[in-house]
Amino acid sequence: MPEVDLQPNKEFFENVPPDNQGFFLRGSAGYDWGMKNRLARIFRPDTGRTVMLAIDHGYFQGPTTGLERVDVTVVPMAPYADALMLTRGILRSTIPATHRGGLVVRASGGPSILKELSDERIALSMEDAARLNVHGVAVQVFVGGEHETQSIENMTRLVDAGYRFGIPVVGVTAVGKELVRDERYLGLATRMCAELGAQVVKTYYCEKGFARVTAGCPVPVVMAGGKKLPELEALTMAYRAVQEGAAGVDMGRNIFQSKSPIAMIKAVGKVVHEAMKPAEAFEICFQSRDVDGSMSSPR
Ligand code: R5P
Repeated sequence: MPEVDLQPNKEFFENVPPDNQGFFLRGSAGYDWGMKNRLARIFRPDTGRTVMLAIDHGYFQGPTTGLERVDVTVVPMAPYADALMLTRGILRSTIPATHRGGLVVRASGGPSILKELSDERIALSMEDAARLNVHGVAVQVFVGGEHETQSIENMTRLVDAGYRFGIPVVGVTAVGKELVRDERYLGLATRMCAELGAQVVKTYYCEKGFARVTAGCPVPVVMAGGKKLPELEALTMAYRAVQEGAAGVDMGRNIFQSKSPIAMIKAVGKVVHEAMKPAEAFEICFQSRDVDGSMSSPR
């Protein structure tokens, strides 16, 4: 036991106001410590943004082009992502347990591309998410889809479970082929996810009104990538999204199907975290000797 501390001149810094522990992410100040800490592993506290690399496509479409061998193509670029979005199958089988970046694990699934995609169920228990030490779980929400209510219930049940473990839920707004990705639809879908408890919402970019979509969503919105575009176009979309209020991106094919995936993820990082103009980021990352990532280390 230490001896009694009778020092008369203790320093309590009475004139220094205490840090009120305000949190850097929109709508997130009221969460418990563990959930905030996990969110800070997905989003960089210094920029408030994230570059997530989505590689979960196999959960409904099998070995997607670019993801045939995740160990060969994705593991080398994983350190350049702030967070990976993936399935628990790939996480356990293929991602080294020494991985230190953020992890968001898919928690819904069921139908393949051969069936009605909105007919998903919860596909991961929160106990297993905690066992995997992940920083978030992702669930698809099909607003306007055939199984809209079921997919919303999947999300709300995961949100309840997530609060028990301090694990945030990413609501992913899936847009069916028959639906239009416009401000009206995306505003509806993102707001519903946030209102019903998702701590993060992933949605597509729309050319008109995206700033109103992000403004109307009380939690961080992360831009989804979508089909493969020419690199400069994809960078431009990411740039506009963050300028218009997105807290980062979660891109898959536009990164891992790029002619140089490491150059692309580095360019996306410059656009997202440094607000670098797309053409400059492209020039620096694709035209320089740094193109394969061998000349510099990840953040
Ligand atoms: C999105 O709905 C799913 O999670 C996808 O598997 C993935 O995130 C899509 O990524 P991207 O469209 O950027 O290839």
